[in-house]
Amino acid sequence: MLNVKNVSKVYEGKVSYRALSDIDLTIEEGEFVGIMGPSGSGKTTLLNMIATIDEPTTGEVLLRGKNPHQLKRNELAKFRRRELGFVFQDFNLLHTLTVEENIVLPLTLDGEKVSEMKSKAAAVAEQLGIKEIMSKRTYEISGGQAQRAAVARAMIHSPGLLLADEPTGNLDSKSSRAVMEMLEAINREQKTTMMLVTHDPQAASYCQKVIFIRDGKLYTEIHRGDNRQAFFQKIIDTLSLLGGDAHDLSSVRV
Ligand SMILES: Nc1ncnc2c1ncn2[C@@H]1O[C@H](COP(=O)(O)OP(=O)(O)O)[C@@H](O)[C@H]1O
Ligand SMILES: [Mg+2]
Repeated sequence: MLNVKNVSKVYEGKVSYRALSDIDLTIEEGEFVGIMGPSGSGKTTLLNMIATIDEPTTGEVLLRGKNPHQLKRNELAKFRRRELGFVFQDFNLLHTLTVEENIVLPLTLDGEKVSEMKSKAAAVAEQLGIKEIMSKRTYEISGGQAQRAAVARAMIHSPGLLLADEPTGNLDSKSSRAVMEMLEAINREQKTTMMLVTHDPQAASYCQKVIFIRDGKLYTEIHRGDNRQAFFQKIIDTLSLLGGDAHDLSSVRV
């Protein structure tokens, strides 16, 4: 599904900064992969390279064997809208729109028929359990509901790859669990490949494997097996070996 080959990223500026060094990783179709590491270790940079939001300095990213960075601007925008889904920490919903209007936004941009949009929105809402909030505005719903709406928007196209950067970062533990259970169910039922960047070991424990990065380099990866609680403990242990700032363990929730 995804090959990251020898990717490095140097941010140029007064002082240039190497955020990623020689990253190689492969993600199979249908996998649910977590990315963890201390603040500043390059997690968001890596996700942005994969999301085609930014370009690697060297190396390449292949999605289903193709390099999206080689597409022309318009084609890239279309590719991003159709093949990728994004979920962010701050939900990124538009406050002047209803939940339903937010969810169908990607379809609006693609010029889809209103009746078609309505029926797709209804199907996603049903599936994700957010039917009752569809006509509400974003200020009338909770953070957990907002993130579920954002996941619905990311899924309305049935993208092959869903990328999430700290999606539970602004949520309490109960809402965080609800969002992770929802992502897990989407991964299981729709076989959507998922990549989740997170500080939160509880959230990461829903993944099938977790890749740890430190100082822009791959550190190690661990696999879940069938016991999520044991995996949670293994994630905590790996984080403490990894070191980094205290902030990284402050979000631990049991
Ligand atoms: N646009 C940018 N320009 C310069 N430096 C950046 C930029 N984005 C990130 N960095 C630096 O690259 C490093 C990795 O950042 P990031 O990928 O955001 O880390 P993480 O998501 O793991 O916290 C940090 O030291 C950060 O300051
Ligand atoms: Mg980040």
